[in-house]
Amino acid sequence: MDLGINNKVALVTASSAGMGRNIANALAAEGVNMVLFARTADKLEAVAEEIRQKHHVKVVAVAGDMLERADVERLSATIREVFGGLDILVLNTGRAPNPLRATLEETEEERWHEAYRNQLWGAIQVAKSVVPLMVGRGWGRVIAITSASVKQPMPHHSLSTVFRAGVTAYMKHLANEVGSMGITVNCVAPALIDTSHRSGSAAYTPAQSEARKKLTPLGRMGTQEEVCGVVAFLASMQAGFVTGSTIQVEGGMIGAMI
Ligand SMILES: NC(=O)c1ccc[n+]([C@@H]2O[C@H](COP(=O)([O-])OP(=O)(O)OC[C@H]3O[C@@H](n4cnc5c(N)ncnc54)[C@H](OP(=O)(O)O)[C@@H]3O)[C@@H](O)[C@H]2O)c1
Repeated sequence: MDLGINNKVALVTASSAGMGRNIANALAAEGVNMVLFARTADKLEAVAEEIRQKHHVKVVAVAGDMLERADVERLSATIREVFGGLDILVLNTGRAPNPLRATLEETEEERWHEAYRNQLWGAIQVAKSVVPLMVGRGWGRVIAITSASVKQPMPHHSLSTVFRAGVTAYMKHLANEVGSMGITVNCVAPALIDTSHRSGSAAYTPAQSEARKKLTPLGRMGTQEEVCGVVAFLASMQAGFVTGSTIQVEGGMIGAMI
């Protein structure tokens, strides 16, 4: 199926690794020109070069921090200067503070502030700066990566769930405000996605991964490609009548019927 987004311009935030990098590759495979944004310049440039080589689209890498206003303003100025505007915004973020803890054990104010900034404020700061670049083009797609925990809270995830719920609320407001401009706004809510690309304490051990597989009727972890496919669909022409929604990518973990 032709997704109808060839030659559009997309920004994918938090895209020097993991899901962001994979989503950027998936959109570039559809002929979308790409703006990448993350803090580590050399990693980001390596991803940019990978995408240029594989998909032959224009890629601009802007090294910066979603939490730093000056970096986000520089990002938005670069998009305006290089592309004259933006069609697709994928708001991915870094992870919540590690390790995950039970709610009553989350007593450190600093961790709550860090989670708020990482999960919610960074996404809002980018959205408020770059969505104006989408206005006036008659078409646009905003897709925020949240978590299935927003629909069914998972144990030890309160630090993330509380602020992902905030992202979901922000996106719903935005969807209502920009729909008449042809811009759709949705969330993709993953859980149990394979993160074997991660190293160190944040990666699940083989035993934890085995236990997590049993949480879904499918009996396995999800793949990065399965998240990317849903993001690419929401970015497509065909998804034009889907807005203000959250699509879960969690292998049926959530027990609710709808
Ligand atoms: N795997 C799942 O099942 C699942 C479920 C629900 C939600 N999620 C969420 O999905 C998101 C992506 O996960 P992942 O596994 O791909 O994470 P990851 O491998 O840790 O990658 C995180 C990316 O975010 C960038 N980043 C972090 N903080 C940043 C900041 N302040 N400004 C700009 N870029 C920043 C990092 O690059 P730099 O360090 O270079 O900045 C990196 O490119 C996370 O928010 C995760 O919590 C995952």
